[in-house]
Amino acid sequence: MLSAYSYLCDKETQISMIEKINALKEELSNLKAANAAAVEELRIKYLSKKGTISALMNDFRNVPAESKRELGQALNELKSFATERINSLREALAGDNGDADALDLTRTAAPVRLGTRHPLSLVREQIIDIFRRLGFTIAEGPEVEDDWHVFESLNFPPDHPARDMQDTFFISRNPDVLLRTHTSSVQTRVMTSQKPPIRIICPGRVYRNEAISARAHCFFHQVEALYIDKKVTFADLRQTLLYFAREMFGPQTQIRLRPSYFPFTEPSAEMDISCDLCGGKGCSFCKGTGWVEILGCGMVDPNVLSACGIDPEEYSGFALGMGVERITNLKYRVKDLRLFSENDKRFLDEFVAAH
Ligand code: DAH
Repeated sequence: MLSAYSYLCDKETQISMIEKINALKEELSNLKAANAAAVEELRIKYLSKKGTISALMNDFRNVPAESKRELGQALNELKSFATERINSLREALAGDNGDADALDLTRTAAPVRLGTRHPLSLVREQIIDIFRRLGFTIAEGPEVEDDWHVFESLNFPPDHPARDMQDTFFISRNPDVLLRTHTSSVQTRVMTSQKPPIRIICPGRVYRNEAISARAHCFFHQVEALYIDKKVTFADLRQTLLYFAREMFGPQTQIRLRPSYFPFTEPSAEMDISCDLCGGKGCSFCKGTGWVEILGCGMVDPNVLSACGIDPEEYSGFALGMGVERITNLKYRVKDLRLFSENDKRFLDEFVAAH
């Protein structure tokens, strides 16, 4: 009797345990918790000594021997499944930065550390911006060039001594392929592909075969400007230069033009600005003259216009070219040209304020 009764009882236990295991699995699959405290509550409910799964383990004692193996396995699986679910709820919250209730939406955001702009980029943008206000648009050309664009079209015939003014990196000879020594090559690229009026500004990197020192580098940056139209005169050039100098260096700036020589301009000039360090009185920066040299310029030589298919009887124009490093030195007094290409963060960080 007793054993028959206990058998029946055990059979019921077995059936109800399977049902309970399945129901619990279902329940566990749908668990949700808003914060760490809720996860802990769930852990206690399912996995603690007095929890649901321990209670089932207790019932397991009444299961008949022949079913123990199967039910034992199911119970163990249930326990692992519950542990896994609780752990993954905990991890999900940790990924959310912990406690969702503790999320303070009014807190100030962590500051984002901005990088700094390179001083040469800052100055190049300023130069471009000034010329843009005068109606100039940006034109660009290749750094690897041919002899015609860099020299010949610009009135440097072969063996012309002015070629020695610029020590050139040749990539190949015959045909001559070289790294451009100046951005004037972009002038002829534009003049041969566009019709006047032309009003362009050409920023870019140029290369010269020079020993690297504090005062010279084998690459540097230039900005070139070119204006071609009917009746463009030297007065237009002078006014453009004055506008540029005052926008760049302040309204008190004076300019002066000295006669010079470039094969591609006639007449040619170099522009100086009054030294803003001593106010023109003369100091060590301007070598006592009160003036500092800024750029080269002139009226486009008729030979250059003809070489590019523009009729010099109908059109005239002016050109000017300046070194971005030189302008940057004047604005920020950088003493050593090598600093511009060393990527030293301490140097670059000094330009945060100049953003
Ligand atoms: N290309 C010259 C150089 O690199 C600079 C220059 C001078 C450009 C006079 C010009 C110019 O457009 O008119 O030394």
